[in-house]
Parts: sequence; structure tokens; C-alpha cells
Amino acid sequence: MEKLRISGGRPLLGTINIGGMKNAALPIIFATVLVNDICVLENLPDVSDIKTALEIVRLMGAEIKQIDNYTYSIDTRSVRSNSVPLDLARKMRGSYYVLGAELGRFGRAFTSLPGGCNLGARPIDQHIKGFEALGATVNCNDQGVSCYTESPLVGASIYMDVASVGATANIMIAAATAKGKTVIDNAAREPHIVDLANFLNSCGANISGAGTEVIKIHGVEKLHGGNYAIIPDMIEAGTYMIAAAATKGDLTISNVIPRHLETTTRKLVEMGVNVEEGDDYVRVRFDGKLKKVRIKTDFYPGFPTDMNPQFCVLLCLAEGHSVLTESVMDSRFKYTDELVRMGAKISVQGRDAHIDGVASLNSANVRAVDLRAGAAMVIAALSANGKTIIEDIHHIERGYEDLVGKLRAVGADIKKISDTNA
Ligand code: EPU
Repeated sequence: MEKLRISGGRPLLGTINIGGMKNAALPIIFATVLVNDICVLENLPDVSDIKTALEIVRLMGAEIKQIDNYTYSIDTRSVRSNSVPLDLARKMRGSYYVLGAELGRFGRAFTSLPGGCNLGARPIDQHIKGFEALGATVNCNDQGVSCYTESPLVGASIYMDVASVGATANIMIAAATAKGKTVIDNAAREPHIVDLANFLNSCGANISGAGTEVIKIHGVEKLHGGNYAIIPDMIEAGTYMIAAAATKGDLTISNVIPRHLETTTRKLVEMGVNVEEGDDYVRVRFDGKLKKVRIKTDFYPGFPTDMNPQFCVLLCLAEGHSVLTESVMDSRFKYTDELVRMGAKISVQGRDAHIDGVASLNSANVRAVDLRAGAAMVIAALSANGKTIIEDIHHIERGYEDLVGKLRAVGADIKKISDTNA
């Protein structure tokens, strides 16, 4: 079992380069199955969820070649129907995108129920509603989800009861080659939805409106391969922005799209942090007292739920009483017990976390309870005096590329250790 050992209390100084966005890359990797040709994907982050997704597609019959650290060629022409490796698919949430891709290509799809972070109930009813509207029959039980259609999928008008990222992406993929026009109303507007639409359009699809709440998809007969570069990861970038503020550092975070970071930037500025925006970087500097704020997560362009735990650490270090409300996920506050072990004063009441600021956090032995919670533990440990050990770091490795190397390069005392040298 590997752990992280962090000796905190040092300001982070320098530049961190941001990789491609995991949550944009996942639907795009699975959408290559629908494309049924050779796609070259650039800027894929080197994280375990992406490796798992590539392995799933390879085991389905695709030929995958690594061209450089972040570029892969994926030839899906020999992918077979009904070939998803269920054990691997079960490991991650994003594997459910294989449903839209297989259904669109073969008229049938089967996969296990998706895994991923335990953030409360994460139903897939909106995915199912979309597939059924396109003409598929969907069955869902403990074994997994199966979809099939006797005749080709036909475009439909679909109103999403929840602006779900996963359902919007899955329906877009399935509808790209359906007959006629599909309209998704109350669609998710996240940048990764726009990235998926751009990828599919670069392969010959006809999708408009991505990034707004109404997406229109005119089905095309056939897609073709090509080259596509994934957008930078706004959550990785936001995590390092907070680490800069929590350690009273001065970090330039490069290779970002500052517009995607707007809500994080605004909240940091409200807390008294200095954020300077360039064309493709943000510089975050702070040395003073953090001000309390109120934060409520929401669907994009609202405050991202995937920044909830990281911001919570900052609120723990702010003067006064802050309130953090989670309105996207059912249950996202399990990590607060770990912060309390480090001296934080947090009381969770339903969807609200009430936080009373403390002068500093203490080192402790803590766990990464999920991916973003793990990132929050790293930030807390970097800000705390003394040596913190973080366990269950496989969660962090699902979504943060070379976290240790990136943080060491800007002055952090962080090391991966195994049980034997702990
Ligand atoms: N929801 C439904 N029905 C559905 C689908 C979703 O009720 O059919 C609800 C969920 O229960 C949740 C809300 O809608 O309360 C949002 O879910 P969404 O479908 O938007 O999220 P997701 O596709 O399951 C993706 C990311 C998450 C990120 C969320 C929100 C991937 C693989 N996962 O999950 O990422 O938190 O969108 O932005 O893209 C992470 O990277 O750490 C992570 C958890």
C-alpha cells in the first residue's frame, strides 16, 4: 500500500503545467468506438482512469499505439460488439460512455454498473431516458445495463430532468449517427461537453449548441477518424490555485483556459487572494488573512462540485464562519472527518458544511476518501506544520498526473512511501 508523506508549512513557488482534462478525455476515448476508424488523441493525461479506459477499449478489440507521453492512436475498426471487460468497466464511472458508443454503432450494448467515487446515490435514469427516447430498449439490474434496438436509432426531443454531464455526453454520442434530429433540452453546459461535441464534429458529426442548455444533433450516416487535442483540466488547475493560496505561495499555473476557472478565481479573489489572468495561465499569490465566504456548488457555469473539498480546506483557514453548500452530489462531505482530525472545525448539517476558521491545521494520519477529497488532504497537509501521512492514494492517482513531481518542483516536501519505509 503506497501513501504520501508531506511535511507542510512551505510556500509553493514557481510554475505548474496543467495536463489534459480527465473528464473530457473519458467520453472522447469511448466515443472512438462509435467513430469506427483511426483517431489520434493528444493531451491525454497520464492518470490511472485514462489507462483503464484505454485498456477497456483495447480489450474490446481496438488497436492502440502510444505515440508520445500524451498522444495515443486508437483504431476501433476491429472492435467487437458485446465485448466490454466487465471487471475493468466496474472500476470507473466513465466506462458508462461505452453504452452510447456501442448502441450507436452496433444497435446493442452491455456493460457493468459504473464504479467511481462514492459521492452518494449516482443514478443513471437520465442516460436510460435518453436511450429509450432514441428507440432503444434498456434493462438495468445488478449484473449491469443492457440496451438494444431492432431498427436504427431515431432522433428525438429529450428533456433532461437533471443537467447531468454523463447523460448529456452519452446521449450525444448515441445520437451522433441516429437518423434525423435529436434535441437535448436542459443539457449540461460543462466545458467537457463542448470538448466532446468538438471532437465528434471533427469526426464528421453535426452537433450545435454544446455549451448552452439546448444541444441539437443532426444524425450523420458515418463518422471518420482524425486528430484531436483534449482541453486542459480545470479541476487540476483549480486544485493547484488553492494549494498556492493555502501555503501563502506564488504559483503560475500554465496551459489553462482562464475562462473555465472563473468561479474558482472569483471565490479566491473574494477571500483576498491575488489572481492574475493571462491568455493561457493564471498566477495566484497570497500572503495575508483569508476572508470567510459562502460557497454553493452548482452545475456549470456554477461553482464546480469537484472543487468542494479543496475549497473546504481554504475555508478552514479563513477568519470567521463560512458555509459550503453541496447541491450537485448527494453526499460529498465524508472527507470532513479527515480534516477534523487535522484540527479543522467543521459541522455538517445535511447539504451544508459550517466551518469555523482556525489559525492553522495540524499534521495527522488521514485518508483520501475519494479523488477530490484526496487532493484536499494534500492541500491541507501542505499548509499544516509537521508531517502528515495520507493513505488510500490510489484515489488521487485516478485523476492527478504526477502530483508528487509537480509539487516537488515548486518546493513541496512530499514523497510517496510504501508501508515498508513508512
Ligand atoms: N444524476 C441523476 N440521474 C442521472 C445522472 C445524474 O439523477 O441519470 C444526478 C447525480 O446523481 C448527481 C448529478 O446528477 O447528483 C450530477 O451527476 P452527473 O451525471 O453530472 O455526474 P457524473 O457524470 O456522474 C461527472 C464527473 C464527476 C463530476 C460530475 C459533476 C466523470 C467521469 N465524472 O460525473 O467527476 O463530479 O460529472 O461535474 O466525468 C471527479 O472527477 O472527481 C468526479 C467525481
